[in-house]
Amino acid sequence: MSSLQLKRVTAHERMPVRLQGVAAIVNRIVEEYGYDKSMLIQVLLRLQKSFGWLPMEMLLEVSKQMEVPLSQVYQIATFYKAFSLTPRGRHLVRVCMGTACKVRGATNILDKIQRTIKIERDQTTPDGRFTLETINCAGCCALGPVITVDGEYHGNVKTHNVEKILEQYR
Ligand code: FES
Repeated sequence: MSSLQLKRVTAHERMPVRLQGVAAIVNRIVEEYGYDKSMLIQVLLRLQKSFGWLPMEMLLEVSKQMEVPLSQVYQIATFYKAFSLTPRGRHLVRVCMGTACKVRGATNILDKIQRTIKIERDQTTPDGRFTLETINCAGCCALGPVITVDGEYHGNVKTHNVEKILEQYR
């Protein structure tokens, strides 16, 4: 090949380095599940756990490598609360807004948390410390109002306790 001839490059080589990284990570997990389409949710759960969120390029890779339509991957990624399409903070705060918690003041607790960390539900603080979400029942209604932080339960929460609880999570 003369020096002026262009070397043939594969589609993979043409990808930006960042995307090559995503492709390799997705490939490692998809391979572990034997490219089995019925394992789509498990593959997404593994990626969510490893990364903390599912960037769009990752969903595209999953779709390509598992040969599942992107619309199906996207539908699953947006349906389940376990998945996030935006980066999550270091600590995930969930406020239970189920009936039992609501009648015990969950709305005031949510309001106090929002004012304390200055974000709305489904947002992440600019410093990446907290992501705030709501859930419909934490499964311990007698302890309401309930919030969880990184899966840790805080029951009988009062508005004046909110700052103290959040301070534990740096
Ligand atoms: S409604 Fe809040 S724990 Fe059940």
